[in-house]
Amino acid sequence: MNYLNDLAADIAGWKRDGRYRTLKIWESGSETWMHLNGRPILQMSSNNYLGLATHPKLKQAAIQAIEKYGVGSGSVRTITGTLDIHDELERELAKFKGTEAALVFQSGFTTNQGALASILGAEDVVISDELNHASIIDGIRLTKASRKIFAHKDMDQLEAVLKETQHHRKRVIVTDGVFSMDGDIAPLPHIVQLAETYEAIVYVDDAHASGVLGKNGKGSTDHFGLHGRVHIQIGTLSKAIGAVGGYVAGAQLLKEHLIHTARPFLFSTSQPPAVAATCLAAIQVLQESTDLVTRLWNNANGFRADLKQLGFDTGASETPIIPIIVGDPALTMRFSDRLLEEGVFAQGIVYPTVAADKGRVRLIVTAQHTEDDLSFALHALSKVGREFGLIS
Ligand SMILES: Cc1ncc(COP(=O)(O)O)c(C=O)c1O
Repeated sequence: MNYLNDLAADIAGWKRDGRYRTLKIWESGSETWMHLNGRPILQMSSNNYLGLATHPKLKQAAIQAIEKYGVGSGSVRTITGTLDIHDELERELAKFKGTEAALVFQSGFTTNQGALASILGAEDVVISDELNHASIIDGIRLTKASRKIFAHKDMDQLEAVLKETQHHRKRVIVTDGVFSMDGDIAPLPHIVQLAETYEAIVYVDDAHASGVLGKNGKGSTDHFGLHGRVHIQIGTLSKAIGAVGGYVAGAQLLKEHLIHTARPFLFSTSQPPAVAATCLAAIQVLQESTDLVTRLWNNANGFRADLKQLGFDTGASETPIIPIIVGDPALTMRFSDRLLEEGVFAQGIVYPTVAADKGRVRLIVTAQHTEDDLSFALHALSKVGREFGLIS
């Protein structure tokens, strides 16, 4: 039997229901305006929240690190792959997050895979919000722990689960800090209060909160003033921080345990030194000034208000992630394609990433967008939104 026939059947199915995608090949760096097939397109779907991916200080740090260390680290962290620049980054991250220690991984995805599988054993239970990111879902699959899912942000359900799982050795509540498809914020104060009442551990993934929420972008724990009460904080270095990587911030003992058990840490080569140097420079830029974070929020709040005024359904958004709910998957992808014709890139997101009737384009406003950029986006969205009957 030719296995390619099976693959072709899957692909034909995705084409039939409008879910087939081709990769867009961008011809410039992660800027506000990017070139696609030689044409400038306004970027409204990048995770480069603060514009750090092309920041001069970060570029300079990367170039200097390449001159000093070369391009690769040469091995996994436990052999020769821990350079002084990795150690310095971890010390700075711990200071930035206000924790005893931090441990860096190659991506946010591998951080969740390594951390969840390491801390959870067969006697434990993991309690997870239904809208948590795929890397959390996969990380949980790698554990032998019992699994409980609570409805999105439903604190009554979370409390009921905590009551019925008291016989487990350890209970770990896992939540995104900012939910990546809807742009809403986890009710962390309530989660912490329940965790303290029922003696559970709190694990928050701040992938979309790092560099976005809290003073200087320190994350959701800082945003809610919960320092010392959230046990495990995950962050990425791939979105607002501008490069690539992920980290766990928490107790020194947690770090030591992860060094011995987290499989992506043990069995995959460490970050190239230029990446570690870039991330270190990003943390320094964030600590120097709150200007970028302030600009990000001014842009996001203004743009969301304008979209609502036009009559768009922006769902539960309360951060720079702003979905426009379209519904049907094929219609969503057509809406995204039509916006591209108007010079605006707004990524369509459909089933199975979101529910079948909740297709959306996911807009991400950044600190780099100017008033003119946002007016251009608004004009295109209002024109195409009318064409598609999303607004009147
Ligand atoms: C909540 C969450 N965790 C982890 C990740 C993965 O991060 P990275 O891109 O650094 O692998 C993402 C990325 O979208 C995310 O939204």
